[in-house]
Amino acid sequence: MAHRVFVTKRLYPQAIDYLTQHVEVDYHDSPVSPPPDELLMRSGLADGVVCQLTDSFSREVIAALPGVKALCNVAVGYDNIDVPAAAEHGVVVTNTPGVLTETTADFAFSLLMATARRVAEAERFLRAGEWGEWRIDLMCGQDIFGSTLGLVGMGRIGQAVARRARGFGMRVLYHDAFRASEAVESELGVEFASLNDLLAQSDFVSVHVPLLDSTHGMMGAEQFGRMKPTAILINTSRGPVVDPEALAEALIEGEIGGAGIDVFVHEPTPHPRLLRAPNALLTPHIASASVATRTEMCMMAARNVVAVLHGESPPNAVSA
Ligand code: GLV
Repeated sequence: MAHRVFVTKRLYPQAIDYLTQHVEVDYHDSPVSPPPDELLMRSGLADGVVCQLTDSFSREVIAALPGVKALCNVAVGYDNIDVPAAAEHGVVVTNTPGVLTETTADFAFSLLMATARRVAEAERFLRAGEWGEWRIDLMCGQDIFGSTLGLVGMGRIGQAVARRARGFGMRVLYHDAFRASEAVESELGVEFASLNDLLAQSDFVSVHVPLLDSTHGMMGAEQFGRMKPTAILINTSRGPVVDPEALAEALIEGEIGGAGIDVFVHEPTPHPRLLRAPNALLTPHIASASVATRTEMCMMAARNVVAVLHGESPPNAVSA
């Protein structure tokens, strides 16, 4: 009997073509995830699920899906899946690492530049008809070239951001639970720092950590209080890594200079104070959103689920 895969939400068509060549597909061809009861019901009829970060596979949900052998996320992050619970039930979890590294780093840098140089604000100003004439102090922002960048997290994406920063003549500090080797530090031209030193010295702080118990809320009032009043925070990782209330407060009170934020605690509804905060550039979780990268992410998830159901070791299994 053919293996059955539930695809919870719209994918790029190449991945659906690939899946239909190898398995029977139940395709929820919709831009929104199914409601929890439908997710449970349709997953329950499948051997494997290709899911996205808007689908929650909690311990209870996983326990209710005894037939499912694979949960294949179309994302590098997998905090929507209880991986230890999956492991206990013999369910393989996969993600899509690597392919989105450069695209996400491009976007983190875009946010950094756009926030520093007030691009979105300037465009709104022009469209509102407020542009009188050229002024010496019109929309002045901050220099990027020659400034100091602090990277919180030095995994694949943090390293890719560091490479871009070199082209801008930036000094790059980083903090991570694991210090990189001397060879990596010298190849990237980065200096290890304690989080407090990094926060105190950086003009830009960009966050590149996964969402874990240890990183949940790691950027809060205390951390913003340590940053320069002109410093800009960039977050393309996961929303809950940053305390949104504390960030809004820091922006409103001028404790920090600005923020470029792509991820939120509650998506798609950013914290209301953040929406009103000055110097906040907010985008709808699009850091990996190039057509080529998103297409390849879909293909990776499709290959992963087919591999598991065919009894092979999937290219991108994650461990608990
Ligand atoms: C997107 O946020 C991802 O984790 O791939």
